[in-house]
Amino acid sequence: MSMTFCNVHFTQQPQKIVYVSGALMKSLKLSGKKSVKLRLGGERIPALVKPINKQGNHLYLASGVRKGIKVPMSGGVFLRNLDAGEVQIGPLIGILSDGTSSLINPFGSRTGFIKQLLREGSNQSYIFAFTPRDIDWQDESVNGYFLTETDRFTRKRVPLPDVVYNRLPSRRAETSTSINQLRERFIRKKIPFFNWSFFNKSDIYRLLENDPLAAQHIPESHMNPTPEQIKDMLDRHSFVYYKPSAGSLGKGIYRLSYVPKRGYYARYRNTKGNVLQRFATFSSLIKTLQTRHGRTLRSYVVQQGIRLIEIDACPLDFRFHMHKNGKNQWVVVGIGAKKAGKGSVTTHLKNGGSLLTPQQALSRVFGARGEEVLNNAKKTAITIAEAIEARDQHLIGEIGFDFGIDKDENIWMFEANAKPGRSIFRHPSLRAEGKASVEHILEHCLYLSKFRRREGV
Ligand SMILES: Nc1ncnc2c1ncn2[C@@H]1O[C@H](COP(=O)(O)OP(=O)(O)O)[C@@H](O)[C@H]1O
Ligand SMILES: [Mg+2]
Repeated sequence: MSMTFCNVHFTQQPQKIVYVSGALMKSLKLSGKKSVKLRLGGERIPALVKPINKQGNHLYLASGVRKGIKVPMSGGVFLRNLDAGEVQIGPLIGILSDGTSSLINPFGSRTGFIKQLLREGSNQSYIFAFTPRDIDWQDESVNGYFLTETDRFTRKRVPLPDVVYNRLPSRRAETSTSINQLRERFIRKKIPFFNWSFFNKSDIYRLLENDPLAAQHIPESHMNPTPEQIKDMLDRHSFVYYKPSAGSLGKGIYRLSYVPKRGYYARYRNTKGNVLQRFATFSSLIKTLQTRHGRTLRSYVVQQGIRLIEIDACPLDFRFHMHKNGKNQWVVVGIGAKKAGKGSVTTHLKNGGSLLTPQQALSRVFGARGEEVLNNAKKTAITIAEAIEARDQHLIGEIGFDFGIDKDENIWMFEANAKPGRSIFRHPSLRAEGKASVEHILEHCLYLSKFRRREGV
């Protein structure tokens, strides 16, 4: 199987004909052939081959062919020479997300990121975004959002894509029957789909329990603990985190501690700000939590609290943004150091946290050893990403880890995000990493759709 980059042009003839330049005839091994089967995504069409005299790799599609397999636009794409005399144009990459139906801002706050993917990706692929409602399973086609040269969205109907990058925004929607069906349909059609869904914290902790290399980096955790278990954890650890397994943005998180003779303390954030509440007895603490959250406490996790390294008396943790590259290997693409706001239980920027580069943060804490600590953390990130991938049955191409580091240089994983936010890339020193992140997503799409260029080509 070989791969060629070529320029696709459209012609007006209604016939099913393709005009192929000399060089392209050669690299597609079409010399002497009268016809070829062209494929885009899930659609195929037979076409007559006519050689033309032109320098370089050029393919002219008559409108009979273009409409038959729904080629969305002219321009540079790859051609894959498949075994059965078939030539595949592509890749056709689909980004699955959701939002409003407006053409200006169809994916809400994700629109900017999606535009960035489409902008970078359209130099080497047919790339579009779509929502679950845009798929016509009967017709096996998608009414996708493509980007025009003037950076606007335009709708085009294309075949089912060669690969799907899942950025569905809602955890709740993702567990619905219709989204489950949608994913199963893509899998049945052998269309790679990554990432499968949001992670739950407790699922990830459980997944890694039996992986000795990864498990040493997970603080002791218990899902849906009884009050006795929480009490036991408080007896053994100087403080614990009590957090919703499917939570995000620090919502609903408590930092609980016990101070002998004084009582129990809960630190959390409510609508007004950071709160520190004291309880004379353990049972009054539990009662308050139960009153505030009721049955939702069943999906909480209690976790050993890690004493994080600090700057200016504010705890620090780290976001490690991981991608799979075009060779299917895990790479640490961007790292942000997050400093907690004063009195905040978490380091989220929304809660007054601030962002530093890891070098800035670690050199302030560990001096000259900072670099070594960072390298160790990078190795750990790759080990844990590999462990999650090996134990999860679905395709994973991206993970955002929340890591803590203690003063003994131990690395701890608090959370793995399957659809990590991109706020760290807004830091002026992390812009290049943000671009690299986009490039890695596209490279991995090329890999999964088998459209990655071979080494040295
Ligand atoms: N076990 C823990 N020990 C110390 N700090 C923690 C612990 N768990 C969470 N945190 C702090 O709270 C933040 C949010 O926790 P996380 O598990 O990432 O939940 P969320 O889904 O809300 O982001 C972390 O980034 C970290 O700063
Ligand atoms: Mg987090």
